[in-house]
Amino acid sequence: MRAVVRDRYGPPEVMRLEDVAVPSPRAGQVLVRVVATSVNLSDWEGLQGSPAYARFGGLFRPSRKILGSDIAGVVAGVGPGVTRFGVGDAVYGDILSMTGGFAEYAVAPERALALKPAALSFVQASTLPQSGAIAVQAVARASPGRRMLINGAGGGTGAFALQLAAAAGIHVTGVDNAAKLDFMRSLGANRVIDYRVEDYTRTGPYDLIIDLVARRSVFAYRRALAPGGTYLIVGGTMRALLRVVTIGALIGALTGRHLSVLAVKQSPEQFGQLAGCCADGSVRIHIDRVFGLDQVPEALSYVGTGQALGKVVVLIDPAADSS
Ligand SMILES: NC(=O)c1ccc[n+]([C@@H]2O[C@H](COP(=O)([O-])OP(=O)(O)OC[C@H]3O[C@@H](n4cnc5c(N)ncnc54)[C@H](OP(=O)(O)O)[C@@H]3O)[C@@H](O)[C@H]2O)c1
Repeated sequence: MRAVVRDRYGPPEVMRLEDVAVPSPRAGQVLVRVVATSVNLSDWEGLQGSPAYARFGGLFRPSRKILGSDIAGVVAGVGPGVTRFGVGDAVYGDILSMTGGFAEYAVAPERALALKPAALSFVQASTLPQSGAIAVQAVARASPGRRMLINGAGGGTGAFALQLAAAAGIHVTGVDNAAKLDFMRSLGANRVIDYRVEDYTRTGPYDLIIDLVARRSVFAYRRALAPGGTYLIVGGTMRALLRVVTIGALIGALTGRHLSVLAVKQSPEQFGQLAGCCADGSVRIHIDRVFGLDQVPEALSYVGTGQALGKVVVLIDPAADSS
């Protein structure tokens, strides 16, 4: 099969398209013929090996040679003990724990997969698992009428989270670069901030801050929170993460705020409800660009350098997709 492989951490140039063996599903695993795989910032982080948590499973050399975690495709085989899926089923899911989606076939844990809603194409379904699970769990922490801010809201996760928050009657502020301000407004943001010209931590107070790209000090986050408010880091630098779980937790406790990590549960229950909203048209899937398998390095650069509005997808089998 064709797959995009890499042997070391580094820039997109370390990846190459190669012929490799089709993987075999083990117990509890499903072999998927991949039709489409969406790109997440976590792919870019896994490529670079930065932040340090992206080196999980390979400190000096990546143990996972093929990146790509948000897959949609057709079941081509099942390992022992698999009961929920059979050959020919259309499925989608997040295989972040194993990766391998930038290839014609990938193995997935059975528990990571769900049947693809018929109303969604493979390209559309591939955009949902990781971003959708984060967005659903982030917005669940706010309630109607409260002031929520999403930092990094113009990307894959933010595009879903803004729509869910607006639909729930939450007053939502989106922060991203200038090229994404109109996009965030179109998704329901009540207010938008260009992080290159305005410091959002001085624009509050907010009841809930969801940070997809944390880089600031815990004192700045604390300043932005209303009394009783919550700051949750989802992604960002290792330094920001360590500060939040140490000094941040302490400062929060002393000042009646809460600073912590949003540890996202990755499972079909988390992204399934968003898929329902996308299938009935109440949430829009915004796909900025679709690349081919031979263009994975460009696709990752496009997301990693912050150019993407919403989601980017790698279409591996165009003939099988109905979009
Ligand atoms: N906690 C968990 O359990 C968990 C699980 C899975 C994934 N994650 C993490 O969740 C995050 C999800 O990100 P995603 O896939 O939605 O990313 P994305 O699509 O790349 O969106 C991130 C956005 O943030 C913007 N940005 C960059 N620097 C910024 C700054 N300083 N201030 C404001 N905005 C900034 C980017 O644009 P520019 O670069 O142009 O500014 C981009 O529009 C990743 O960090 C991933 O590692 C966490």
